[in-house]
Amino acid sequence: MQTEFCKQLGIDVPIFAFTHCRDVVVAVSKAGGIGVLGAVGFSPAKLKEELDWIDAHIGDHIYGVDTAIPQKYEGMDKTSPEELVAMLQDAIPQQHREFVSKLLSDAGVPEWPDQDDEVSLSFSAVQAQLLVDEALTRPKCRMIVNALGTPPDDIIKQVHDSGRLIGALAGRLKHGINHKKAGLDFIVCQGSEGGGHAGEVTSMILWPQMVDAVAPLPVLAAGGIGNGRQILAAMSMGVAGVWMGSMWLNSEEANAEPAQRESYMKATSEDTVRSRSFTGKTARMLKNEWTEAWERADTPDPLPMPLQGYLTFDAVRRTHRYAGSGDCQKVAFNPIGQVVGQINTVESCRDIVFRLLNEYSEALDHVNAITPQG
Ligand SMILES: Cc1cc2nc3c(=O)[nH]c(=O)nc-3n(C[C@H](O)[C@H](O)[C@H](O)COP(=O)(O)O)c2cc1C
Repeated sequence: MQTEFCKQLGIDVPIFAFTHCRDVVVAVSKAGGIGVLGAVGFSPAKLKEELDWIDAHIGDHIYGVDTAIPQKYEGMDKTSPEELVAMLQDAIPQQHREFVSKLLSDAGVPEWPDQDDEVSLSFSAVQAQLLVDEALTRPKCRMIVNALGTPPDDIIKQVHDSGRLIGALAGRLKHGINHKKAGLDFIVCQGSEGGGHAGEVTSMILWPQMVDAVAPLPVLAAGGIGNGRQILAAMSMGVAGVWMGSMWLNSEEANAEPAQRESYMKATSEDTVRSRSFTGKTARMLKNEWTEAWERADTPDPLPMPLQGYLTFDAVRRTHRYAGSGDCQKVAFNPIGQVVGQINTVESCRDIVFRLLNEYSEALDHVNAITPQG
């Protein structure tokens, strides 16, 4: 199952694991695939700490780093990070702040303990540049992936000059075509059923269209993959590998809280929704009272990205930190795809990779057995 793209990277199997957890990165890369660390929301210091740990534990294997690298705009160099935070904070209406604060207090979510003013600058070009610079100091980091949109030309050049590959997610055909025009090396094509930011078109429809539209660029199939039968379906459409996010969230190595794990195991594939309520762009997550509250006619509309993210930054960190207390899960941010309905047990990442490969072979045998030979 080693595709040309695997050979180009030097990995054994075309399984790409998107994760925020360094232990998952290491475990999947050691199992023959490749772990890609999601660094959106990390400060440069935090990314350095995580990459130091990965470099010390991953042996001779390689990994990738994913972040959100927005296009640059006129005058951005003149705005300091502090000024940027102040501008964004000023742009958030009081009505929205009060609405969020009521949702959290009604669910009994404890306050953040330290009265720090930390605000994540994720989704800013300033922060993204620092994260890319840090990743490129690491010889074992072999790919940079952009979560949203086509990265700016100078970052594409910087990554290429360093001898690495750069790709980006695409939930619509036109995004993939733009990525190709900009000179990216591969496309991660995410169908609507996937966890996190997701468009409207489902994987079954989008993957083959993308493969044709950006050929000969390698396409990685994302959105809705949790077993080997789904991998075979994707590979049959001409993709160069599979990019999975949801399945690692309940793995042994994941740093999920017990209450989160319980939510994943209880949920069926009908229990997710695409909602703008956390980041301002449609992302798939577990349905709960928070997502429902933002849908009602008498409540404020989510703000555009990145404002909604600044508004909900504190809610996300508090509901994560106190995941098991009170009714936190009713208002927690749990991005995950429809494949959550296939998560019924806790497995190690190594077992997940081996199970996927076995199931893939069995499915292939099945297809061969029903296909007339000669
Ligand atoms: C918890 C979670 C967070 C995600 N955050 C990001 C992100 O920061 N950057 C990104 O490129 N993709 C992100 N995604 C999308 C994944 O990279 C991947 O495309 C998606 O999970 C694939 O679909 P699946 O969930 O059905 O496996 C996230 C997905 C999940 C489940």
